[in-house]
Amino acid sequence: MPAPPARQAFRRRLLGWYDRNGRALPWRDATDPYHILVSEIMLQQTQVDRVLPKYHEWLERFPSLADLAARPVEEAVEAWYPLGYNIRPRRLHSIAREAVARYGGTLPSDEATLLSFKGIGRYTAGAIRSFAFGARSAILDTNVARVLFRVFVGKGDPKAHATRAHLWTIAHAVLPQKRVFDFNQALMDFGALVCPARKPRCPVCPMARVCKSYPFDPGARSSGRARRRSKRPEVVTAAVVDRKGRLLVARRLEGSHMGGRWEFPGGKCEPGESARACLRRELKEELGVKAVVHEEIYRTTYAYDDRVLDLRFFRCDLDGKPQPLLGQEVRWVGRRNLSRLEFPPADRELVARLAKEGSGLKTQGSRQP
Ligand code: ADE
Repeated sequence: MPAPPARQAFRRRLLGWYDRNGRALPWRDATDPYHILVSEIMLQQTQVDRVLPKYHEWLERFPSLADLAARPVEEAVEAWYPLGYNIRPRRLHSIAREAVARYGGTLPSDEATLLSFKGIGRYTAGAIRSFAFGARSAILDTNVARVLFRVFVGKGDPKAHATRAHLWTIAHAVLPQKRVFDFNQALMDFGALVCPARKPRCPVCPMARVCKSYPFDPGARSSGRARRRSKRPEVVTAAVVDRKGRLLVARRLEGSHMGGRWEFPGGKCEPGESARACLRRELKEELGVKAVVHEEIYRTTYAYDDRVLDLRFFRCDLDGKPQPLLGQEVRWVGRRNLSRLEFPPADRELVARLAKEGSGLKTQGSRQP
């Protein structure tokens, strides 16, 4: 456990840095617990730049927990697009319904009650309590854990269960008496701007003199996810549906990644979700149909600058007519016309193969480069 002078130095340096460099983000003017909840759930696994426009749009559409609770959950999922991980709008919606049913449309401020909501964990409870209610409550997400680990621990496995528990204790111990709101927001900005997983900016770091990992060696084993190649791919599933020789394709919404291009419908797996379950869920959410997922016909990986995708294509049958719920355009396209449409680069080999085949889908055998 850091000694009191080390805690004091950390607080002083962090808050001083934040006063000079903190980002002006809209949820930092918020004190409404619902606004904080929305921002924190949106920010899980999603970068600030992508959250900013959606945060405003969401609050205009659902200004309060009561407004959200009054709408069908499908509307919340639709309004969430294109943030992904659609379990999140479902959770928000269920929290809203519970808040209305049990707490008159507000969120309570005590930790135990917050934790009793499905979808509010220790981190989110800490964020709501410290940001909305000014409570002296710690937060620990991946970013904060990395900062505290590097500064106060330095050696060992940052992801071990015992380390996590120790980091929660440190997160409580370093909290100041005042300015808890700023302190917790500062931890996040510091993790994102000065102490990211890859390429921490040690030469300009105000913690250099008090940090156990300074100067940080990005090649060292204790760096956790510091090496790019160690990043686990995100699994994305897609359905290849053949009706009398014509294949179902959907157009990605403008404004999304690869907006305007065509793709086989599907989407990203949630953590812990199987590929087949993911595909059934995505087709239900996006096209309003039940799907029977058959064999995997093609698999490939594709690396973008910031992430690696593990793309898995399954032959599927649909029970009914697709009805795009999110406003995408869908089409049934003859195989020979497939190559006239613009697909993302990762799909092109499969598109070329399908275009060459006659009607009836053949199983290719999975390809795993
Ligand atoms: N990531 C999670 N919560 C955040 C916040 N309040 N500000 C910036 N990034 C965040």
